[in-house]
Amino acid sequence: MRKIAISTVAFAGVALVALSGCSTGRAASAASSPAAGFAKGSVIGVALPDKTSENWVLAGKLFTDDLTAAGFTPDVQYAPSSNTASEQGAQISAMNTKGAKVLIIGAFDGKQLGSQVAAAHANGAVVIAYDRIIQDSKNVDYYVAYNNEKVGELQGQALLDGMKARFPDAKTYNIELFSGASTDPNAKVFFDGAMKILQPKIDDGTLKVVSGQTAIAQTQTTGWLAANAQTRMDTLLAGNYSGVTLNGVLSPNDTLARAIITSIKAAGKATPVMPVVTGQDSEAASIPLIMSGEQYSTINKDTTKLVEQAVAMVTQLAAGKTATTNSPATNNGVVDVPTYYLPPELVTKDNAAASYKNNPTLEALTK
Ligand code: BGC
Repeated sequence: MRKIAISTVAFAGVALVALSGCSTGRAASAASSPAAGFAKGSVIGVALPDKTSENWVLAGKLFTDDLTAAGFTPDVQYAPSSNTASEQGAQISAMNTKGAKVLIIGAFDGKQLGSQVAAAHANGAVVIAYDRIIQDSKNVDYYVAYNNEKVGELQGQALLDGMKARFPDAKTYNIELFSGASTDPNAKVFFDGAMKILQPKIDDGTLKVVSGQTAIAQTQTTGWLAANAQTRMDTLLAGNYSGVTLNGVLSPNDTLARAIITSIKAAGKATPVMPVVTGQDSEAASIPLIMSGEQYSTINKDTTKLVEQAVAMVTQLAAGKTATTNSPATNNGVVDVPTYYLPPELVTKDNAAASYKNNPTLEALTK
């Protein structure tokens, strides 16, 4: 059945009703755009979260370069790492004051930007949620991201496949589960995607979460910080794995995977067989670990392509067009947000060289 999502978006004093959404994953959907477009040279605000992984570091430079090349004036800001959502809110308010025509926002906290995006709409700006959806606000026009649920599914499947290959004689597997920051809406989407694959195997006894910590609240990693994941892994190992084999760990990204691997090694659990540890982001520091087998998998979500897609949307909006979307709309708790998804790719040592063939830096690390 074809799904029609209706979102009402008001800006520049005009209420527009946009029909959006499709089930084919191909047809473009109509969303909001400033009817008259806006001039080249206009300020485009880009508000990114703190630099909790390499992809965010890359995104800032790519947005600056690509928006400039497309003829706009980028204003790229990161949420200060030691602070909270309110700092990012202040940065977005400053962009509004500068008259930004589009706000591209990678939220530090998906639930804390309601008043800033409402102000952006009141100023006639278009709001694009980048990588992370902005929750509980009707003032979000577009979402552009890699398909995060798919990321989680790939991670869950990689954990299962990796353990089967590494422990061919095992009938059951002992695992632990990690998730990201509770402030990041993606953390739950990744976890739920992975649990779609893992929960049935927990239920039938194939997988045992030895600590018993299976609720997302028990697995989360405050601030996506490596130190927090490492401390939790140390505690889990000390409390539950004396004389017990650890077969695998669901890690939501590479930064946390490396911290978990450090903990596993320190606890003497890397031998005789290294447990399977998943990841995400294709961070340069993780590629050698994947080639050596210390980290089993990562996900390729090429930041270059995601930024290019966001900038292509800005160019369409400047021309007075609606931006192209290609996926079913994403419900943010209040409205269905027209969505453009790029496909994530699972990477293990078997396909790493091929997956990074367009990225010489990463490809070189697979040799
Ligand atoms: C991104 C991940 C990243 C994480 C921590 C998420 O929102 O989608 O790629 O690993 O934030 O920075």
